[in-house]
Amino acid sequence: MCGIVGYVGRKDAESVLTVGLQKLEYRGYDSAGIALLTNSEIVVRKKAGKIHDLINDLENNPLPKSDIGIAHTRWATHGGVCDTNAHPHPSRSGIFAVVHNGIIDNYAVLKEKLEREGYHFQSETDTEVIANLLEYNYLKEKDLLKALVRTVNELKGSFALAILFKEDPDLIIGVRKDSPLVVGLGEGENILASDPVAVLPHTKRVVYLNDGEIAFVRRSSVEFYDFNGNPVEKEVKILNYDEEDAEKGPYPHFMLKEIYEQPKVLSTNLERYVRSLRPVLLRDLNLRKLLLNKSRIIIEAAGTSYHAGLVGKYLLETYAGIPVEVEYSSEFSHKKLVTDSRTLVVAISQSGETADTIDGLRHAKKHGLEVLAIVNRPESTIARESDYVIYTNAGIEVGVASTKAYVAQVQVLTLLALELANVKGFLTEEELEGMMRHMEALPEKVERVLALDAHIEHIAERIYRSTNVMFLGRGINYPTALEGALKLKEVSYIHAIGYAAGEMKHGPLALVDNNLPVVVINPRSSVYELTVSSTHEVTARGGRVISIITEGDMRMAELSTFTVFVPDVPEFLTPIITIVPLQLLAYYAAVLRGVDPDKPRNLAKSVTVR
Ligand code: F6R
Repeated sequence: MCGIVGYVGRKDAESVLTVGLQKLEYRGYDSAGIALLTNSEIVVRKKAGKIHDLINDLENNPLPKSDIGIAHTRWATHGGVCDTNAHPHPSRSGIFAVVHNGIIDNYAVLKEKLEREGYHFQSETDTEVIANLLEYNYLKEKDLLKALVRTVNELKGSFALAILFKEDPDLIIGVRKDSPLVVGLGEGENILASDPVAVLPHTKRVVYLNDGEIAFVRRSSVEFYDFNGNPVEKEVKILNYDEEDAEKGPYPHFMLKEIYEQPKVLSTNLERYVRSLRPVLLRDLNLRKLLLNKSRIIIEAAGTSYHAGLVGKYLLETYAGIPVEVEYSSEFSHKKLVTDSRTLVVAISQSGETADTIDGLRHAKKHGLEVLAIVNRPESTIARESDYVIYTNAGIEVGVASTKAYVAQVQVLTLLALELANVKGFLTEEELEGMMRHMEALPEKVERVLALDAHIEHIAERIYRSTNVMFLGRGINYPTALEGALKLKEVSYIHAIGYAAGEMKHGPLALVDNNLPVVVINPRSSVYELTVSSTHEVTARGGRVISIITEGDMRMAELSTFTVFVPDVPEFLTPIITIVPLQLLAYYAAVLRGVDPDKPRNLAKSVTVR
């Protein structure tokens, strides 16, 4: 939430920074702003609205040229969405300008202290407090590093900062505590950003800041310090993304591009984690001993990753015989843990930067528990702080709604469950091989679902004016119902709710009338008949059924107003094949309602606040 970028080099800083902001726009799009250092003055331009509003403003009314500056795209926390609350925030006398990602918990106390010293505030933000506190400390200390050390130690909360300092035209300062920050190392230029995607157009050589670190970024050098002001040695890493990963290409939206990338993602993980029809996650990543020593798993995750965790629970319990609990990270991280060392905590996250999930992992580690992360983004905080990591290899996911990352999470959990089942002797070699053959056929089957795109768009045309949509699933596809509902509501703003199909008769059935579209996920499975009965309960009350069912299933088709036939797969793979039409349904409903599915209101991709 909130994206920050800073540049010092030889290029036109305004264009480098605005391109950087566009790459980070998924992190928030309430307002955007830029500060440049030019002729020993800091000039600021900021605006409520999306980044293109700022760019239009800069085109109509250009800022003086400069080769150093900072910029910000905001997801509002403290203070409403308006030009004044937009970042960057200059300090009182304009010697500093600050952009910030995070929340300062003690900003009210610090603000009062500064007000007593004669400071006045223009905005309602916590960030303006940082700018003025830094100025106050600098005027006292007369030394920049000392002033910074003093300031960061006074701040409580989470903060990634980029700071421009009027007295040094060769310096941008980066600070990290509990919000991500990376420095990209170029030739005669360096760039600072919340996410490597903004660095990628310039360089693949990066240094990730750890919590409690400060970077002094200059044109031809970067120095790092800890929060005591001591120098820190850092390792240079090489990004292994391609720039096209972060481009839309021929697709109108990232969400559609990422839905279409799913067969490729599935194939990548088959290449990485399967040899001769054997999953090799436990073997190759040295996880075998770890998993065999554990008698219980707690999965902690948020949103879509939580839904992947629910599928994982089903698979790990069914095949590997290990009890699994799935907790929302935001709940887990505040819970008393009744566990022992035979409990493994699994943190699932696409971004690896979700604050709640980071808190959950730290909570687990504080209680002496080992943590295995299932993460998409390498070098993310969750990947770095966990004891063990399995990467989901979905590539950069830009659309706010998670699609390909979910499918990759479910696939990796499936491989993990099957390999563990085999190692424990619950699945014979032949059984495992048979299941893996089905898994290898999956990318092509997902391609066949994507070929139904126009048919699903047509269904979306029939439901996009609805105010409510219900999703029903049972067993391994109950999480699919939850995920289908989440996708629809977050990108189209249609109220959508997922239920376990068998729960309908215990209350939700009262919602059904002939205006309510009910999406029933009922592929061939062990709970097929029971879900047919639930579907009858809906149609008997006039509900309009949209069914996601196996090719050739005329019984369900007869009960349905619309059907999406998906290829036949064994039950353990149905969550992957059935979610794809629901992602497309949500996408087209959003587009028909005039919502940009890549940037739904009030949301941001990487939720780095608590
Ligand atoms: C929904 C969505 C969110 C994320 C959630 C966790 O489409 O993307 O619900 O799944 O914010 O994010 P990660 O997986 O990055 O921890």
